[in-house]
Amino acid sequence: MQETGLTMSNKPLFHLQKTRSLLALVVCTGFSLFCTALFGELPELASPSTATGAATSARFYGGVTADDGLSYGASFGGDQLLDILAEIQVQPEHINTLGNLYLLAVLGADTLMRVESGDFVPWDGTIGSLQATSPGKTLQAIEPLTLVENTPLGPAGLAGASLQIYLAYDTTATPGQLYYSGAPLSFAIAAEASDAASFTFYVASISTPIVQNRCIVCHTSTGVAATSALHYVNSSVEGYQQSNYNALIDYIENAPNGSSLILSKPQGTLHGGGVQLLPGSAELQLWSDFVASSLNDIASTGGSTGTTKNIFSNVAKMDNEQTLRKAALLFAGRLPTTQEINSVIGAGEEQLAVSLRGLMSGDGFENFLI
Ligand code: HEC
Repeated sequence: MQETGLTMSNKPLFHLQKTRSLLALVVCTGFSLFCTALFGELPELASPSTATGAATSARFYGGVTADDGLSYGASFGGDQLLDILAEIQVQPEHINTLGNLYLLAVLGADTLMRVESGDFVPWDGTIGSLQATSPGKTLQAIEPLTLVENTPLGPAGLAGASLQIYLAYDTTATPGQLYYSGAPLSFAIAAEASDAASFTFYVASISTPIVQNRCIVCHTSTGVAATSALHYVNSSVEGYQQSNYNALIDYIENAPNGSSLILSKPQGTLHGGGVQLLPGSAELQLWSDFVASSLNDIASTGGSTGTTKNIFSNVAKMDNEQTLRKAALLFAGRLPTTQEINSVIGAGEEQLAVSLRGLMSGDGFENFLI
């Protein structure tokens, strides 16, 4: 009898403690990044490194999960709802110093940096042009970064893409030094079987004989045509056919005069690479047929979703509404109202934080904590 009494009186105490620690976590990680507190251990990224080669005790974590953090994986289907989470543990002596957080994504042949607005913009690889995703902040022991929440990446144009995410920070405590994850968070999104006629034609007749054999020697991010708008990835990259096809469609559709330059350049008209497809050759015929088929597909689908970087920034922009939806379900036990959703669409992190705080009161939130 007495034992039962003890157990029972212990129970609320346990609940109280759990409530406290959860609250502490929620508060310390910041409202807009609250979800990190709810996930399990993020996998650690190997080889923490510094720009000068000095040793560092900073740690970097990152993971992609389709099951709210029960497991983290490296390859996902295009329609799976994904969370991409990352965390920087700064060196203890950097806590409370002023610093910047950086986030870079390597997507096919491009390196993109996440800027303060949350958009991904191309980075040219020079330190001078590197922009922080979280500039001028007082560094905390743990700095969580949420890239994507509850979002399928296939429809966002990343089917067949593989991505590598790098994390970094610097601090005014050690000017000129950069601390970063030597090994990236890597993952791939499965290619969806594209039923576009031009893609079938591309795989059968264009990919190997023309793009991989004739164009890619110069058209890579580091090749002779690095400054051109056409970069391909080599055949060792998973999903390379889809990536290179996407790059071509993007160019034909979106580059100024793309649909005519794509034909005139390889025939040697004002082309840095000279004549690549000879007049009257079978290859030029295949190339022309491919361009015609692509234009046909672009016209019939109303066009693709734009350039690679815009596709990725669209992913980032989906965040607010998704975040609010998830928070409302978790904390308030209901879906957000239209008014709540409208208040965060296109708004900054501050407005999102205000709206999230609004959800963290009332019965629903109390139920979540206990
Ligand atoms: C020997 C190197 C080389 C090869 C091979 C080569 N190119 Fe180029 N290409 C260049 C360079 C350099 C540029 C940038 C200068 C210019 O616009 O011509 C370029 C530019 C282009 C552009 C214009 C891109 C823009 O920025 O608008 C197109 C289109 C193009 N190439 C198509 C092709 C095709 C198709 C092939 C393969 C059949 C090919 N190239 C093979 C060197 C090459």
